[in-house]
This record gives sequence, structure tokens and C-alpha cells, in this order.
Amino acid sequence: SDFRIDIILYYIPLLLKGTLLTIGVSIVSILLGSVLGLIVGFGRMSRHAYLRLPAACYINFFRGTPLLVQILLVHFGVVPLLIDRTDVLVAAILSLTLNSAGYSAEIFRAGIQSVEKGQTEAALSLGMNRRQTMRYIILPQAIKRMIPAFGNEFIVLIKDSSLLTIIAAKELMYYANLMRGQYLRIWEPYLTAALIYLILTYSLSKLLGWWERRMNQSEQH
Ligand code: ARG
Repeated sequence: SDFRIDIILYYIPLLLKGTLLTIGVSIVSILLGSVLGLIVGFGRMSRHAYLRLPAACYINFFRGTPLLVQILLVHFGVVPLLIDRTDVLVAAILSLTLNSAGYSAEIFRAGIQSVEKGQTEAALSLGMNRRQTMRYIILPQAIKRMIPAFGNEFIVLIKDSSLLTIIAAKELMYYANLMRGQYLRIWEPYLTAALIYLILTYSLSKLLGWWERRMNQSEQH
């Protein structure tokens, strides 16, 4: 059987509408996820066990269980508890945010711990306190080193947001599935969806590569 470009053209507006939600949910989730991840990450590095242990449990749970299971737990369990009804968009953003925070926490920790101990010692011996040392010495360097990892996390979120189709969030895969159901065709919907994801992730990785190179240049002088 032939490849039907005509049905792709006919469906493109809906696929792009889904793509907008894919992008929107991913952007909101990476932002909220990194804020929550910063908190969890600092908890994980705390001197106090009552902060360190819950943070470690959080990270282990969200990195050690499938995102698909987390999406279902959040949609059918957590969101109804929180707002007394189901809401696909809330579930979509909350599940991706909670998941991403687990990964972001480890990105923060790795970034902060990558700054040599000697710098903390030097800053402290110059009379800075721990807070100032973190704010002015450690974080500016650590954040630079975290950018590639966060870029990668964003790309992962864009791809894995496709799992949201299980709760019928109207993102890209939702419309690809709808298209398959309507035309009973396999290649056209799924190859088109794959191509759209590829365009998103490929251009994002190019953009990130360019940003990284630019920052490395401004460092050398
Ligand atoms: N694909 C893995 C899973 O299903 C990872 C999920 C998300 N990964 C991430 N870096 N946010 O559990």
C-alpha cells in the first residue's frame, strides 16, 4: 500500500496543536521540576539526617520507578486527593514535574560537588560564611556546569511526555493515536509524530551545543 501524504497534510494542524501542548508541558515541568529539584538536592546534601533521608527516598523513588507508573499514580491517586476531581493537565504537569525534580536534584548535587573543596576552604578563610560561599563562589561555577545536564533533561522530558498519552493528555501522541484510529493507518501517524519529536530534540540539542560553546569561549581570557 502507498504512503498517504494527503492524510498527513490533513492532520498536521491537530498534530501541531498536540506538539504545542508537548512543548508547553515540558517547559513548565522542567522549570517547576528544577525549583523542586533544587530544594530536594540541597536536602540530599544536608548535614541533617531528617532532611537527607527523605530527600534520598524522594530521589530513589522517582528515578527508580517507571514514569508511566508515576503518571497513573498521580492522575488517578494524587490529583483527586488534591483537588477532589481528575484533571489531565494538572496530572500531566505534576507527574512530569515530580519526576524531573528527582533527576534535577542529582544534577544540582553533581554540579555543586564538582566545584573543588579548596575553593570553599579559601572562601571561608577569607571570612565569607557558608551561605556567602555557596552564593558567590560555588553556585556561579556549578550552574555553568549543570547547563548541559539540564538541556539533556529537557530533551528527555519532551520525549517522555509521550507517555502522557496513557491518561489522554492531548499532546502529540494523543493526536497520532487519534489519527491511526481514524484512518486505520500505522506508518503515517507514527512516522509523522517521530519526525516532529526528532525536529524538536535535534534543534534543541544544536541550540544547547551552541550555547555551551559560547559560554566556554567567554570563559577563556
Ligand atoms: N524513561 C525513564 C522512565 O520511564 C525515565 C523517565 C524520565 N527521565 C527523566 N530524566 N526525567 O522511568
